Amino acid sequence: MANLLDGKKAADEVKAELKNEIEELKEDNIIPGLAAVLVGENPASKIYVNSKAKQCKKIGIHSEVICRPDDISHDDLIRLVVDLNKRDDIHGILVQEPLPQQINKLDLNLQINPYKDVDGFHPENLGRILIGEPLFLTCTPYGILELLRRNDISLNGKDVVILGRSNIVGKPLAAMIMQKWPETNGTVTVCHTGTKDISKHTKKADVVVCAMGIAEYLKDYMIKDDAIVIDVGINRIDDPEADKGYRLVGDVDFESCEKKCSWITPVPGGVGPMTIAMLLYNTVKACKLIKRITD
Ligand code: GUN
Repeated sequence: MANLLDGKKAADEVKAELKNEIEELKEDNIIPGLAAVLVGENPASKIYVNSKAKQCKKIGIHSEVICRPDDISHDDLIRLVVDLNKRDDIHGILVQEPLPQQINKLDLNLQINPYKDVDGFHPENLGRILIGEPLFLTCTPYGILELLRRNDISLNGKDVVILGRSNIVGKPLAAMIMQKWPETNGTVTVCHTGTKDISKHTKKADVVVCAMGIAEYLKDYMIKDDAIVIDVGINRIDDPEADKGYRLVGDVDFESCEKKCSWITPVPGGVGPMTIAMLLYNTVKACKLIKRITD
């Protein structure tokens, strides 16, 4: 039976550390501020954004949720971001994805001041990771590294297979793991829809990260004994026995894999809470950076 990589516990630790730091900042009348922009009515996005705001409040970060309708024009959304860039009380800006199709995501991310880009989606921040000179680490990959670090698991010398090449998980995570940083320095393979035989890669991997958005995709016969399994997926599957008529599962078939691997993240309670914890971490970091720049 595998050991559980408890994301809730590690996230609580990160948040407790941040709370202390925020109390110290308050002594100098500095309050970190986060603006979260929510476009449209996507129920999952609403839950995520409200959860981010709630957790900000708990540790003393000022937060604002700014809601805009699904048919907001691209220019109006850009104007909103440009206004947030100018505000002294807002140190972090995020625009929750997915976004409606009239919004050009690249153009939007380019408009966010890279020093307020706490999601780490600005091409400058992604590029900085690639060259090993990061400002903000993208929250989900950062959360994965932090969860491993807090469980004394180093990726140094390990073969890591990432399933999924998204700009917000697979690609930045690959760029981080290949760096010669203290707990990274792993050998990375990224599998995607063009990969001929995914099992061929996962069977040899010391660590498998699943981030492709297919419910319970990774099975026990696809991994080797004692692998480390990280599940980034959050999928709703029908379950007539559940109160809501559905339940949440990851991209990993937890039941079969947990019997074979050495460490595994649960869903919920694994990577998800870490993503939010690192967003809060980045917001406090943004506040300290801006303060230093303007002092
Ligand atoms: N959609 C899914 N994950 C994220 C995230 O980390 N940040 C934002 N802004 N949108 C998301």
